[in-house]
Amino acid sequence: MDILEAINKRKSYRGLSKEPISRETIEEIVKAGRMAPSCSNNQPWRYIVVDQKEDLERLYPALTDGNYWMKLGPVIVAIITQKDYDCVIKSRVYHHFDTGLATGFMLLRAQELGIQTHLVAGYSPSKTRKILGIPDEMDVVSLMAMGRLAEEVPQELSEKHRSSEGKRPERLKLHEILHYNGYNPEVEPNNRESS
Ligand SMILES: Cc1cc2nc3c(=O)[nH]c(=O)nc-3n(C[C@H](O)[C@H](O)[C@H](O)COP(=O)(O)O)c2cc1C
Repeated sequence: MDILEAINKRKSYRGLSKEPISRETIEEIVKAGRMAPSCSNNQPWRYIVVDQKEDLERLYPALTDGNYWMKLGPVIVAIITQKDYDCVIKSRVYHHFDTGLATGFMLLRAQELGIQTHLVAGYSPSKTRKILGIPDEMDVVSLMAMGRLAEEVPQELSEKHRSSEGKRPERLKLHEILHYNGYNPEVEPNNRESS
């Protein structure tokens, strides 16, 4: 699979199967993240892979109700980082940016390996921290569901989520995000829809 195909095929599906993902495959995916650029090569990203039934069940209470579908998959990854692991240049703080870059690489490698990924912000950071033993200094940036697509859209999905499975949420137009040779306020979209 070439990169463009992985970019275009990646979608935040919810209809995951319980089929396990081997640690070998998980490590292949994290290895792609390792290769991402970071400020001064600081590599501030850390990943906690939760792949055991009893540990997943301990983590579920940290999910918001709307992210109930994450319970369908075999793996949830907590993406964590720490401010002083990376560059802080006056008001520019890079640990989240660099962790996002590494995670983006992982999403594409996962896609290439036939594994779906779905990042979420809908969780309790404090519960996640407590359940997984994450130190107070570390930020819980996101949780990520990982798994293979179920052969059929699972019955457990809500009507709304069932109908959105095949649909690609709309993107801003290229001309709304791309500026040449200086900032042009006229292209800024004023009618943004949230996901
Ligand atoms: C930081 C972040 C937080 C997100 N939070 C949630 C979430 O809590 N629940 C959910 O179902 N999807 C969540 N998403 C998925 C987005 O809704 C999705 O990426 C967006 O609608 C674009 O769709 P696509 O990824 O299928 O192209 C999140 C994505 C990101 C990157």
